[in-house]
Formats: sequence, structure tokens, C-alpha cells
Amino acid sequence: MSEIVSIPKTASGEAYDILIENDFEKLAEAVSKLGINDRKFCVITDSNVEGLYADEVESKLKDIAKLVVRYTVSAGEANKTLANIAEIYKFLIENHFDRNDCIFALGGGVIGDMAGFAAATYLRGIKFVQIPTSLLAQTDSSIGGKTGVDLDAYKNMVGAFHQPSLVYMNMSVLKSLPAREYAAGMAEILKHGLIKDNSYYGWLVNNFSEIMDMESDYVAKMIKRSCEIKARVVTEDALEHGERALLNFGHTIGHAIEKYMDFKLLHGECVALGMIAASWISYKRGKLDTEEFYEIRDMFLPFGLPLTLDDDADAEEILSLTKSDKKMDGDKVKFVLLKKPGKAYIDTSVTDDEILDAIRQLILTDD
Ligand SMILES: NC(=O)c1ccc[n+]([C@@H]2O[C@H](COP(=O)([O-])OP(=O)(O)OC[C@H]3O[C@@H](n4cnc5c(N)ncnc54)[C@H](O)[C@@H]3O)[C@@H](O)[C@H]2O)c1
Ligand SMILES: [Zn+2]
Repeated sequence: MSEIVSIPKTASGEAYDILIENDFEKLAEAVSKLGINDRKFCVITDSNVEGLYADEVESKLKDIAKLVVRYTVSAGEANKTLANIAEIYKFLIENHFDRNDCIFALGGGVIGDMAGFAAATYLRGIKFVQIPTSLLAQTDSSIGGKTGVDLDAYKNMVGAFHQPSLVYMNMSVLKSLPAREYAAGMAEILKHGLIKDNSYYGWLVNNFSEIMDMESDYVAKMIKRSCEIKARVVTEDALEHGERALLNFGHTIGHAIEKYMDFKLLHGECVALGMIAASWISYKRGKLDTEEFYEIRDMFLPFGLPLTLDDDADAEEILSLTKSDKKMDGDKVKFVLLKKPGKAYIDTSVTDDEILDAIRQLILTDD
């Protein structure tokens, strides 16, 4: 199965295509269309993905490139640093990369963000191609042009908007992704349904076993639909002034939990908890009925995501950590709530008491 999602030109960059494929067979052909044949290519990957896919990707690229070099970063968020970006710049300089050469990001969101940021800034910007290999990268981080790195504990504090020239996904690489990483990617996918498309959400819920078994037709349909939703939101709001903020559903409390747990839970796991908490606030405000709330909550379970925090978790501490979230409008948190399943909106009136109550619901485990 081959699918294409086309992203139009926006305020933050040129048009590009997202190709959804089952292998790397069409990679060289797709790259050829970018007008960079006989240029130098740098494949940036991580230490887990390198041994699995880098040789194959490079062998395809070698057919059309002048030179293909590889730069491997140690796997993990802890390596998404400016120091490592500086190492990438040095590597590009040593290999005489100029403005017409191209970077390829082969890996999950960490590599996509880093390689994209290196491409955004090296010589004030060179082309780059995303080859996302995690479920999160295939449905979320590779689309929209946000790139960047962490600064100590401050996640994604430094970055740039830089659109890829192409996103090429080979869905079959998901087979080697650890199950927990696959489940974490599902959190953002369920989010796409909850904020924008209730019939898609219903389809995901009804087909959870095929999706969790990675049946290819289901995975293809899911990746395509999630790419379309993310693409639509980010192209309508390329520089993040309004609509794009809906993608932060579950993220205010989710980020606070991520910090509270000292990054021992995966981002998607924290976002699932954050979405349950935000749904609770929506329920308390009368936007969701009891059945809708409990269905949203309980459906995270079959997708391998948590519903609760340990019963010794400190709700007040988590509340205080929501204050350092970047998604602020002046001193008010821009909170994303649900008007109903499939329709999210921004609310700046959510109080500390409501947030605290919602976090406590995650800790109370009696039902
Ligand atoms: N730019 C954006 O818009 C955006 C959006 C969401 C998240 N992000 C960023 O994305 C990052 C998280 O991305 P992630 O969850 O992909 O993390 P990741 O890149 O760390 O990948 C998760 C793990 O899976 C491994 N892996 C990846 N693909 C694999 C495969 N096919 N087979 C085996 N192992 C594989 C990686 O080596 C890593 O250990 C965070 O840094 C986050 O800030 C960016
Ligand atoms: Zn997220």
C-alpha cells in the first residue's frame, strides 16, 4: 500500500509530501524529485536505529547521491542537546557540506528534532528529509516543521521552524519498535481523534486489537488519518498562533507528570494521563457525560497506556509543575478541553482547584 498526504506551502515553508510506504523501495525515486541528485547526503540516526536500517537506507541513497555519510547520535532524549548539534555542524564542515546538500533524519522524534534543527541552522538552513521510524515520529513529530533541542531539564527550549522537503515513512520498521514505545505513540493518535474527529476515534477504539497487533491495513489507515489531522492543524496555523494549540490536549498536566516522574514514564504515557485529567475537567464542566468520560478513560488501557498514578503521588506538586509549562497566555494557562468527543477548544479559565481535582482523580484508584 502506498499513500500520499500533501502538505501545502505555508507561512513557515514550502509544500512537501508525506509518503506512507511498506518498504524503502521508492525512497531514491522520491528524493530524486527534490532536485538534489549528485549532492552530498548526511544520514543522521541513533545508536538503536543505525544497526537496523541505516545500511539499507544509505544503499538506496547511494544510487543518486554524490556522497552519503552517516552521523550516529547515542539513542535517547538525554542526547538531544546543543552540544551534540555542535558535533553535527563539525561533522558537516569536515565533510564540506554546502548549502545545496541535504540532511536525512533516520529515527524517532529525537533524531527528527535534532537533524531538523541542524538543517535549519547550518549555513542558515539546508534541505532535510524526514525518515521517521517510531510511531510517534510517523504520526506526530515529523510533520509540522518544529525542530529543536533541550537545554538541561528544559525540554524543546531552543529550536526553529524548518519544514522538511519530504517525509518518507516505511511502516514496516514499526515491527522492531519496543511495544511500550508503540503504545506511547498511540496516545498522540488517540488525541488526534479526541480533538478533531470523533468517527476516527470510534474507529480506533473499535479496532484496537488489529491496531495493537500491527495489522498492516489498519496501521496504514491509522497513520494516514493521523498525518492528515496533524497536517491540517499545522498548515492552518503554521506558526502556532491558535488552532495548533489544540494539539496540546493532555499536555499541560501530562508535561507536569513527566517532570514529576523524573522522565521515568514515556511522554505518550504522561499525555494519556493528562488527557484523562483534561477530560475529567470537561466532564465536571458538563461538556462530557459520565459515560463519555469513563469510555475515554478506560479505552487507554487496551492501547497499553496507564489510567492512574501511584497512590502516593503528590497532586499539589504536580499542580505546581503545570506552572512551568510553556503553553501560557500571559500568566494564564491555555488549557485544552473537550466540548465533546472529537471537538477540542482552548480555555483560559481553568482554575488551580479544577486542575488539582483532576490530578487527584488520577491518584484515586477505587473505581
Ligand atoms: N517536533 C515536533 O513537533 C515534536 C512533536 C512531538 C514530539 N517531539 C519530540 O520527539 C521526541 C520523542 O520521539 P520518540 O518517541 O520517537 O522518541 P525517540 O526518538 O527517543 O525514539 C524512541 C526509542 O525508540 C527507538 N526506535 C525508534 N525507531 C525504532 C525502530 N523502528 N525500531 C527499534 N527502535 C526504534 C529509539 O532509538 C528510541 O530508543 C521527543 O524529543 C519530543 O520532544 C517533537
Ligand atoms: Zn506530545
